[in-house]
Amino acid sequence: MENLYSATKKEDYIKLISARLSQKRVNHSLSVADMAVKLSKRWGYDDLDKAYCCGLLHDICKNEPDTVQLSMAEQSGYELVPEVLSEVKLLHAPAGAFYCKTFLKIDDTEFLDAVRWHTEGHAAMSKLEKIIFAADTVGLDRDFPDIESYRKLAFDDLNRFIVEYYAWTFFDLLKKQSPITASQLGGYNYYLYKIRN
Ligand SMILES: [Fe+2]
Ligand SMILES: [Fe+2]
Repeated sequence: MENLYSATKKEDYIKLISARLSQKRVNHSLSVADMAVKLSKRWGYDDLDKAYCCGLLHDICKNEPDTVQLSMAEQSGYELVPEVLSEVKLLHAPAGAFYCKTFLKIDDTEFLDAVRWHTEGHAAMSKLEKIIFAADTVGLDRDFPDIESYRKLAFDDLNRFIVEYYAWTFFDLLKKQSPITASQLGGYNYYLYKIRN
């Protein structure tokens, strides 16, 4: 069976994102891939090649027109709640899972779920989902106040990082009067109880 995460495939994926994404987004994707490997080593996720490729491809549909993102998301097979359908920012995640499955023939549920949920997260994420979710925020391309403390927390206590990240995200969403999805709330509550117990 073809190795979808081989060195050759990695080169192909880098060429692909370079053709499909802005330079800034390419740099981001490379940073997420590198950070995903670091977090995998820290948290005992063994398939470093898969984590790297997932980081490379997680935003593969980010620069598609809104209508294309919507169309791909609708074909992804993932349920799309109204809060996702109304927020263009959230559509590239299910669209990306569809793209990876359909055009790159990555028929690997663990991988596809990590792409699908990298923006929202949810309760009881797989290890790879948590790693890509965190790497998206604390990759070395990111620069915002307190980034260093978030980055450190992702290595010290991944569950606590997830709670802190949700709290920060919700604050921002509430200020903008943007919706919070049930998956995000479920993820927050789940990991909150994890760190309390
Ligand atoms: Fe994204
Ligand atoms: Fe991203």
